[in-house]
Amino acid sequence: MSNTFVIKGFGGERKLHGKVSITGAKNAALKAIASTVLFRDTVTLTNIPEINDTFRMFDLLKDMGADVVNLKHGVYTVLIPRGFATELSPGIAKRMRSSIVLTGPVLARYGKVSFPHPGGCVIGARPLDLFVDGFEKMGAKVSVKDDSYVVEAKDGLKGAEFFLKNQSVTVTETFMMAGVLASGSTIIKNAAMEPEIADLAQFLNKCGAKIIGAGTPTIIIKGGKLLAGARKPYKTMPDRIEAGSFLVLGALASRELHITNCNPAHLESPIELLRSAGVSIETKKTEIIVRAPSKLRAVDVKTHEYPGFPTDLQAPMTVLLTQAEGESKVFETIFEGRLNYTESLSAMGASITMMDPHRVLVRGKSELRGRKLTSPDLRAGLAFVIAAVVAKGESVIHNVDTTIDRGYEDIENRLRAIGVEIERAQVLSESV
Ligand code: EPU
Repeated sequence: MSNTFVIKGFGGERKLHGKVSITGAKNAALKAIASTVLFRDTVTLTNIPEINDTFRMFDLLKDMGADVVNLKHGVYTVLIPRGFATELSPGIAKRMRSSIVLTGPVLARYGKVSFPHPGGCVIGARPLDLFVDGFEKMGAKVSVKDDSYVVEAKDGLKGAEFFLKNQSVTVTETFMMAGVLASGSTIIKNAAMEPEIADLAQFLNKCGAKIIGAGTPTIIIKGGKLLAGARKPYKTMPDRIEAGSFLVLGALASRELHITNCNPAHLESPIELLRSAGVSIETKKTEIIVRAPSKLRAVDVKTHEYPGFPTDLQAPMTVLLTQAEGESKVFETIFEGRLNYTESLSAMGASITMMDPHRVLVRGKSELRGRKLTSPDLRAGLAFVIAAVVAKGESVIHNVDTTIDRGYEDIENRLRAIGVEIERAQVLSESV
């Protein structure tokens, strides 16, 4: 069986209203869960989003021997006992790219780690060269055996200095965590600056780590002992991608939408861009209020590492541009292959021309019609939900369990609460 969403579109009417509360950030929670390997005692994690990706990350840890307890909704404790294994389960890791961040803490604590080439969303080639380079610079040997990477540092990891040729988020996090237990100092230059990285560093520092500069392009980590978690619970920061997606939905279809429990400071670039498209946005400390304008203007979008426009909001933004008057260029600079979903928007009636794998031209405004859709990845999945709300007629979105459910908690109930006509249905996989 596979899960689908059936959505009745409003055909452009501005009907949504109310309040939606943002959950903990997937891409912060996953790293905090991985970081529990750096601790000598029990760690308490709170505001963890209850989504397939965090469940899988806990499964990975449990498979290696960790003691994971779900105390209540969103609250977990993790204890890494003696005899913790150093092999990441291929069955789980192959399905989830972010599993790679576990390699840093496991290698740093145990001097070895093995893992398969990790899978995840199909958003283009996702190389591992920066991970391999980093392991080697820190004194480890990397070999490939039976489809698995085996990394060993017999004398423990040594602090090292490296310059990342690409500002990679998971590479930065992996080596920031590895540096916490390495001997000497580790310096990461051209580090990614996403807020999730600073969030992780702040938590680790509270528990005894010495990390300076997370959130800037140079991070210095002084290696030390295992961290102490007792009485210092971690609270996941709000999900800026979820907040940004609701912002786009509100900009398209709401009379007035209040997005609460979020951090508008993490969304400066999308907010600026939406304002220049004519959207009325008000920000408070932890809330954004958005109203759909009667007309949207075309704007160009170029994805960029933080604080630029996030690649994870590119698909929802492109849906918005199909409803804007004029011609917009969308330039996806981070991942090749992350514009393939635009074919489905064209099938719904959008006028989109692919210039090359990184660029599309959107001509608006077009009337979208409900369709059967199969999402290629998690973020495009939610973009299809937004497109379906804007479209005329009914849309059916397939593969919800392997895409949307990976990253958005209880999404249909939260959408329904603000007026979206959405139902979850189960269908036989063969009929998808
Ligand atoms: N790269 C390399 N070599 C490597 C690793 C990455 O060249 O060894 C390149 C990539 O090919 C890409 C660039 O570095 O061109 C940046 O990719 P990055 O490594 O930052 O991506 P990531 O760390 O795998 C994280 C998020 C993604 C998000 C990107 C960009 C997590 C678990 N994933 O991925 O989130 O799109 O950063 O912000 O944090 C999602 O949540 O749906 C998602 C895909």
